[in-house]
Amino acid sequence: MKYGYFDQEKREYVITKLNTPAPWVNYLGSPEYGAIISHNAGGYSFVKSGAKGRILRYKFNDNDTPGRYIYIRDDDSEDFWSATWQPVGKGEDYKGSCRHGLGYTTIESEYAEIGSKTTYYVPLKKTYEVWRHIIKNNSTRERNISIFGYAEFTNNSDYEQDTVNLQYSQFISRTYYENNTIIQTLSENSNEAVSRFFALVGSPVTSYTGDKKSFIGNYRSYKDPEAVDKGNCGNSLNYNLNSCGALHTSICLQADEEIEIIFILGQHNSSDAQDIVNQYEINSDLNKTDSDLIELKKYWNNNLASFKVVTPDEDFNHMINTWNAYQCFITFTWSRAASFTYCGQRNGFGYRDTVQDIQGIIHLAPELAKKQLNFMISAQVDNGGGLPLVKFNHTPGHEDTPDDYSYVKETGHPSYRADDALWLFPTIKKYIGETGELEYLDEIIPYANTGVDTVYNHLKKAIEFSLNRLGPNGLPAGLHADWNDCLRLGKNGESTFVAMQLYQAFVIMREFADAKFDTSYSEYLLDQKLKFADKIQSLCLEKDRYIRGITEDGLRIGSKENEGASLWLNPQSWAVLSGLANMETSDIILENVHKNLNTKFGAKIMSPSFKNIDFNGALAKVYNGSTKENGGIFLQTQGWLILAESLMGHGNRAYQYYKEISPAHQNHIANIRQMEPYVYGQFTESRPSPFEGRSHVHWLTGTASTVMVSCVEGILGIRPDIKGILIQPSIPSNWSKVKIEKIFRGKKLVIVIINHNEKESGFKEVYLNGVKVKSNYFLEEQLSNSNEILYIM
Ligand code: GLC
Repeated sequence: MKYGYFDQEKREYVITKLNTPAPWVNYLGSPEYGAIISHNAGGYSFVKSGAKGRILRYKFNDNDTPGRYIYIRDDDSEDFWSATWQPVGKGEDYKGSCRHGLGYTTIESEYAEIGSKTTYYVPLKKTYEVWRHIIKNNSTRERNISIFGYAEFTNNSDYEQDTVNLQYSQFISRTYYENNTIIQTLSENSNEAVSRFFALVGSPVTSYTGDKKSFIGNYRSYKDPEAVDKGNCGNSLNYNLNSCGALHTSICLQADEEIEIIFILGQHNSSDAQDIVNQYEINSDLNKTDSDLIELKKYWNNNLASFKVVTPDEDFNHMINTWNAYQCFITFTWSRAASFTYCGQRNGFGYRDTVQDIQGIIHLAPELAKKQLNFMISAQVDNGGGLPLVKFNHTPGHEDTPDDYSYVKETGHPSYRADDALWLFPTIKKYIGETGELEYLDEIIPYANTGVDTVYNHLKKAIEFSLNRLGPNGLPAGLHADWNDCLRLGKNGESTFVAMQLYQAFVIMREFADAKFDTSYSEYLLDQKLKFADKIQSLCLEKDRYIRGITEDGLRIGSKENEGASLWLNPQSWAVLSGLANMETSDIILENVHKNLNTKFGAKIMSPSFKNIDFNGALAKVYNGSTKENGGIFLQTQGWLILAESLMGHGNRAYQYYKEISPAHQNHIANIRQMEPYVYGQFTESRPSPFEGRSHVHWLTGTASTVMVSCVEGILGIRPDIKGILIQPSIPSNWSKVKIEKIFRGKKLVIVIINHNEKESGFKEVYLNGVKVKSNYFLEEQLSNSNEILYIM
């Protein structure tokens, strides 16, 4: 069942059926001032941390309440409704829609011949939010209307304290009213005083309350608040109970008349709040909300401008051009900080997560990527390992490490993980490929704990870190964990996945070493690479599969001899994308995956789920079978599978895997998938779950960047490297034409792929600006400012 559609031109997802299977949300602002909003205006706001800087209350997992509510009341009939369907939730007479756009959400309603259009947004680089509300009388008679804006403040910036420690939190919170504004203070007499505001612009306040109970009423709910029912808020304030901002204005609308009012919310003291509010007084031709929104749209369009694709598959286009790209930016910016499943308790950046997230935006915003990459390199310890958690207030050169008790105590991370710093290799390779900035390797960046080094030496250290921590068979030790948080092979166990990452590191580092004429190191890397290839082949390859690893006790995980968990996806896809497996083996193992792990909603992370095989490190067994790391379809891993098939030139299969998990391609079965049809989640339940196909953990997930990379580099085959760019698409054979526009190192590329022969990969002829060329690889100096590349398959 469908609940909405993609508006390609406006870059919006439009929800037309509002009773979606879950709240479908959007992100406003940035973590400096963050706001998450569902299509029913449910959601919360915070400053810097969703857990510790919470402004608006939101109850997780509780029917999407409360939120940024606007109630509309017909003062003649005394009937009332919400400008956002819920929470009042009127029946069939109510018409509404929600448009989630890039950085804003617009919700429209039509009921009792009154129309409304509310746009929620955080102005660019600002630390407050705006609810712009336009209300229109669509009838032929004069209407007396009351509008109520309602924002439920937390009583404590710490959301947990706000929820459970009432003996404290309620008694630090109170409200005031001044100049059309509710001001809330927390601990106003202390040094830690906090002040929030909720203001109305554009119409005088008729009544107000700063007290939740006065607004909602006793034994009532958001659905039928007493103040709205009665048509008056009673002008009360909170002292020692629950604060809220509720502002009521009554207006008289002539037939066809429309007016605009604005609610503004933020965490500022009353004088700063007044300054903010003053800018929104509606008096000029182009009011501030219009110019804010123009600026916001420009910013987002600009972010997404450097890469555009037109294929015969519109859903693919929506994802790559807009939604997957947008999700990559959101995940890049917000890390795992705040969603409807996370609230920001992880007070920092996960090393591997963030280094992977960066990959998703390199083709769009390399400068931004570089900034974060530098930050992450500065979180590498001088022994070469990454800090498992990089605190938001990370101070390079001065951090404790997992070797220090203080770090372990503060972050809860007991030791190094085997994979963290190895993610730097593919990410830096992509950055240098995109920009051609080989000098990046010479940039000097501090270590987390002490000392500084060039990027090149940081990478050398990352390799040393792994080589200094090998298990008894000579493969990288499992340490605390590898990419899979729920698989503990043991400190001296050995991980095939990490071995393949290390192999990939040798390959990438050799390219760098060669480009820098560091011959002896290059030879050393070649030697290591060959040695490791032998070791991995002889220890881990069992004809049709690579095993997942060997535990400290010598148990082979992912071996065909195992009764449970006998086939794992990652070592198969990584064998291919690291370059380790030859063509023949690659074909065999990928075929095995297709046969034994794939389902119509994607390939399982492993199978069968933990049950018949059990060992200490099988942490995933805590999850129900076919769920998350315990045999679920862990969507990030599908990205690597798509890439592996693309590298093999298997366009049809790569595309099949893509379609199995692409949100847009499941728009018509959104009732099964449940999650936003424009957003990837962390995992999908697989058979034999009774809810096969249901997805979870929306928005903030490594799936976004990994699938983006698999589409851009894999399916579309856009593969920049140090000196130029390779164009090597692996597309479904029924795509007859693809057009890609890309800005590459400041030059414009228009790449047209013509496929009249129903091929999946390979080319017959290639033309650059009308001239036939021999190769599909283009050196940077071959390219002019504007280039047309014709790729005939
Ligand atoms: C979660 C974690 C990520 C990990 C993955 C697999 O997505 O954030 O770090 O790699 O699970 O366990």
